[in-house]
Amino acid sequence: MKKIAIIGGTGLTQMPELQVHQNKTVTTQYGSPSSSLLCGQLSGADVVFLARHGSDHSIPPHCVNYRANMAALKQEGVSAVIAVNAVGGIRRDMSAGTLVVPDQIIDYTWGREHTYSDGSDVPLAHVDFTQPYTEPLRQQLLSALQAEGIAAINGGVHGVTQGPRLESAAEIDRLERDGCDLVGMTAMPEAALARELELGYACLALVVNPAAGRSVDTISMADIQTVLEQSIPKIRAVLARACEHMVEKGDSL
Ligand code: HPA
Repeated sequence: MKKIAIIGGTGLTQMPELQVHQNKTVTTQYGSPSSSLLCGQLSGADVVFLARHGSDHSIPPHCVNYRANMAALKQEGVSAVIAVNAVGGIRRDMSAGTLVVPDQIIDYTWGREHTYSDGSDVPLAHVDFTQPYTEPLRQQLLSALQAEGIAAINGGVHGVTQGPRLESAAEIDRLERDGCDLVGMTAMPEAALARELELGYACLALVVNPAAGRSVDTISMADIQTVLEQSIPKIRAVLARACEHMVEKGDSL
């Protein structure tokens, strides 16, 4: 049975349901990951939990050391990563509270350490990124959602902006013209680094607000917090169910 990593985003900085065997402070040649690694069991699966923004949620999206995070998970022996991301909804049916398992990415981030293939000690590689998410892992998430009776949208283009500010309405219009359905700040370079390390990678995205200009209301942190509080229990249930399925399916990811 392979080891699975869960990267918790905004609203998911702890995993009380994980039976923790070890709380490991690790370091990598790229620096320290955002948090210690909580290693334990979830529904019988070996799981490593990492809080993307730190356990106190203090690291903004553009300051996350994505290379250290993914290298630390690789070092720990994980083979698949489930990333949880809070996002804004661009498409009309992606209203607050909607869960989405995206299948594509457009990267608008800049200035982030985004590759291991930087001419130093790793051979130059142009990894294939045609399908940025690992399809079998996406399917595991979708079947876990179904088993839990939780509605979700299968597929969507995840636009990734630099943050930490939210977008202007015109920027969201541009993302929509580009084909983006949802917008977040943390899927890149995380997904590409996972691919460089040959880690399976899929995302469970929670829409926490309508993207800029998609509602008459101002986007407020209080409203986002309310959505998180209502929806995080669903995400926890889906993660536990996905782990259970992966244990049942054995080594097939
Ligand atoms: N834009 C970008 N990232 C986000 C948003 C948003 O509206 N909501 C949550 N993360």
